[in-house]
Amino acid sequence: MTADSISPIPRSAAPREAPAAVTAMVRLIRDTWARSEPYLPEISQFFYGMLFTLAPATRDFFPINMEVQRGRLVRALVRIVQMVDRPDDLVPFLRQLGRDHRKFGVIPKHYEAVGTALLAALKSHLGAEWTPAVERAWAEAFTIVARAMQEAAAADVNPPFWSATVVEHRRLTWDLALVRLIPEQPVPYTPGQYMSVEVPQRPRLWRYLSPANAPRADGGIEFHVRAVDGGWVSRAIVSHTQPGDVWRLGPPIGRLAVDRERSKGVLMVAGGTGLAPLRAILDHLAQWGENPKTRLFYGGPAREDLYDLEDLRALAATNPWLSIIPVVERGEDLPGCEQGTLAEAVTRYGAWPEHDILVSGSPAMIRATVSRMLVAGSALGQIQYDPFTVD
Ligand SMILES: Cc1cc2nc3c(=O)[nH]c(=O)nc-3n(C[C@H](O)[C@H](O)[C@H](O)COP(=O)(O)OP(=O)(O)OC[C@H]3O[C@@H](n4cnc5c(N)ncnc54)[C@H](O)[C@@H]3O)c2cc1C
Ligand code: HEM
Repeated sequence: MTADSISPIPRSAAPREAPAAVTAMVRLIRDTWARSEPYLPEISQFFYGMLFTLAPATRDFFPINMEVQRGRLVRALVRIVQMVDRPDDLVPFLRQLGRDHRKFGVIPKHYEAVGTALLAALKSHLGAEWTPAVERAWAEAFTIVARAMQEAAAADVNPPFWSATVVEHRRLTWDLALVRLIPEQPVPYTPGQYMSVEVPQRPRLWRYLSPANAPRADGGIEFHVRAVDGGWVSRAIVSHTQPGDVWRLGPPIGRLAVDRERSKGVLMVAGGTGLAPLRAILDHLAQWGENPKTRLFYGGPAREDLYDLEDLRALAATNPWLSIIPVVERGEDLPGCEQGTLAEAVTRYGAWPEHDILVSGSPAMIRATVSRMLVAGSALGQIQYDPFTVD
């Protein structure tokens, strides 16, 4: 997840109703954050200054050049704290996040220091607006979030991270590479999950990537990585990764999945490297001869962006339960391709009743697709996407 990554779209169809006290607490937090957010750089600077004074050991968890990450942690913290009124979505995620934080070497007293530093940073900025009620709201919400993370971290029996060696680095297009790694020990992920990775070229800059294959006997994991403009980590991976490099992989996160026993039909919607987790699920399903009928809409701006189309077609050719529908925004009349955005293409077929719908791609693509499907009549409960992966 990135710091900007909390979705405004609730994931579950009928989220548990938050108690009135929690709703009031969240309202206070949102109001004060709305006034503070424009000052994120100053607030972050204060936060880190205080954190590194209270718990000097935490300095080593962060990159040497703090400018690179700017307000990432503070923004992530606040977005999550604001979601305490959505426990059904939040708690499973927090448990994964708590396990994930073990990779930094975070211990309970660091949570206390982070909480103190966050509240002090907000207070320093808000002045008279930092009333006792506001302080109580932030403190309570932070405590709920931190407790869920720490409990899961304490109960975790897996290693805090896995070392994995790059065995292949192949450019699929000018800006996209396939990287295959073999971990020292298999990573216990389920197809559709993602994990944070740290590469030797960019120490302490962890980024999330989604394995594009189901777990294999040799533990091998393939990532599809696109270099984004100005991207610190993705450009280094695409341009400079070499066989023999040793990466660190954090624990698996996320809930995208197909229940092949229960599902009556599956609609997958993938944009760009958002294909990777859906590819892993298809790879997993392909071990059975029969599966729910699955349709994958795979889209991008132009035909050349659909980097995996030939392999997907080959997979569909040997698996009759699967069909692939390429979608391009540019390129009139390309044979076998739908025109338009993914949101437009999938909704041409109506609301997809009785289907499980999995959406994966850029934050903007997820937002556009889910919103349009809801308008077309799909039920929120049908739609899966990682609710914490929206930039
Ligand atoms: C759950 C999840 C799974 C992911 N899986 C994959 C994957 O399988 N393959 C993959 O290549 N990436 C994946 N990503 C994106 C990846 O984690 C990084 O965000 C991306 O590689 C950019 O990192 P960076 O360090 O290069 O860019 P940064 O240095 O963090 O950002 C540099 C600039 O690029 C912008 N930017 C960041 N991400 C994107 C983006 N995706 N598109 C356009 N602009 C962007 C930022 O806003 C910033 O302006 C995933 C992200 C999430 C949240
Ligand atoms: C309530 C408690 C916490 C929450 C909700 C939380 C949340 C997060 C999230 C979501 C990220 C990912 C940000 C991204 O990739 O964009 C992150 C990163 C990180 N967190 Fe935490 N965190 C918490 C506590 C802590 C503590 C106690 C530490 C220890 C000092 C810590 C250290 C880090 C570091 C080092 C990173 C990566 C560097 C960075 O993104 O700046 N976190 N945290």
